[in-house]
Amino acid sequence: MTGQGETVNIEQRLLVTAHPEFSQAALAELQQLDPSLSMLEELVPGILLCQAADSLACMRKAMRTHPVFVRHLAPVQHAIALANTEQDIGQIALSFSLLPTFTQLDRGTYFAVQTRIIQTELLSSERAYSSGHLNQTLAEAFSEETGATESIKKPQIVLSILCTADTAYLGISSVEENLSSWPGGARHFAQSTEQISRAEFKLLEALEEFEVALPESGYALDLGAAPGGWTRLLLDAGMSVIAVDPARLDPRLATRRQLEHYRGYAENYLATNDRRVGRFDLIVNDMRMDARDAARLLIAAAPRLKPQGFLISTFKLPHATAEINPLATLKEAVRILQRGYAYTRTHQLFHNRQEVTIIAAQPRPA
Ligand SMILES: C[S@@+](CC[C@H](N)C(=O)[O-])C[C@H]1O[C@@H](n2cnc3c(N)ncnc32)[C@H](O)[C@@H]1O
Repeated sequence: MTGQGETVNIEQRLLVTAHPEFSQAALAELQQLDPSLSMLEELVPGILLCQAADSLACMRKAMRTHPVFVRHLAPVQHAIALANTEQDIGQIALSFSLLPTFTQLDRGTYFAVQTRIIQTELLSSERAYSSGHLNQTLAEAFSEETGATESIKKPQIVLSILCTADTAYLGISSVEENLSSWPGGARHFAQSTEQISRAEFKLLEALEEFEVALPESGYALDLGAAPGGWTRLLLDAGMSVIAVDPARLDPRLATRRQLEHYRGYAENYLATNDRRVGRFDLIVNDMRMDARDAARLLIAAAPRLKPQGFLISTFKLPHATAEINPLATLKEAVRILQRGYAYTRTHQLFHNRQEVTIIAAQPRPA
């Protein structure tokens, strides 16, 4: 802790954000990339203050290797003590403008200020500003000062602020180094009236994370489809869909002519050897079942995927107990899936809870 207005030189620190249940897994992944990394403090569940021999180099290694559980990284190039009054805003603005990395803001650069405020019991009085107020005030000031353009949606450079009850951690980095363009990796989508389930956000986020688009025609197989959020997205993209689930689909899908509902278990559908479709352009799976069982079913489905098609699947993980290690379950499930697909990449998305999402491609011949 520091006195008000006092500054601390804290180069080579960084903030690591992950799902609270998987924050140790995220830390372990980063330590494997960079053995010099260590955790100083878990500020709140899922946000770790860490240090490394070279924090930027560590962030760049993560950027290249796509860790599964790390959602977001932010450098900490300075920290200031907060009074929780309006004066903090001026202090933060001044501290940013003195950072050597501030020169990245230039005419023609698109930038965003991203503030996260951690609410803790330590905060005795109401804070005089919100994250939105800080973002807007600072962005206006920096835009005027440097000629850089604020772009909340597509920034190149991000000025990250994390406020605890008594300290603000500040850093400037490229959006790629942060691993996500959203503060703390918290990707938000607007809700629409057509939306059938919250699960839709998982598929949308997966497509973004893995940088793939839904085919605009062809056939999709949707395993564990009900109530039908993913099915709706596939249909809206232009695909014909076989939706497999013993449960009912949302009545709004009843009029969709490109949809066939196989009302039964995926195991049975795959065993029917239904050849009407030939090979699918896309297979998706969101079945509520053990990740290893899902992987076995998905390798059985691999010969039904076109060679240039791809698969997106969630893998449900158990909660950790003295006997159960969810990471071992995941490792085993991925190993099983790799018997059927030459390419896989796994990520724990913001919209994933006790699960991860995996993309697989290049199905191996049966
Ligand atoms: C999380 S929900 C899927 C949500 C869906 N993706 C959406 O967007 O609306 C999981 C579904 O898996 C289905 N399910 C579980 N085991 C299954 C199996 N063996 N075969 C087919 N569906 C299964 C359940 O009936 C349930 O509807």
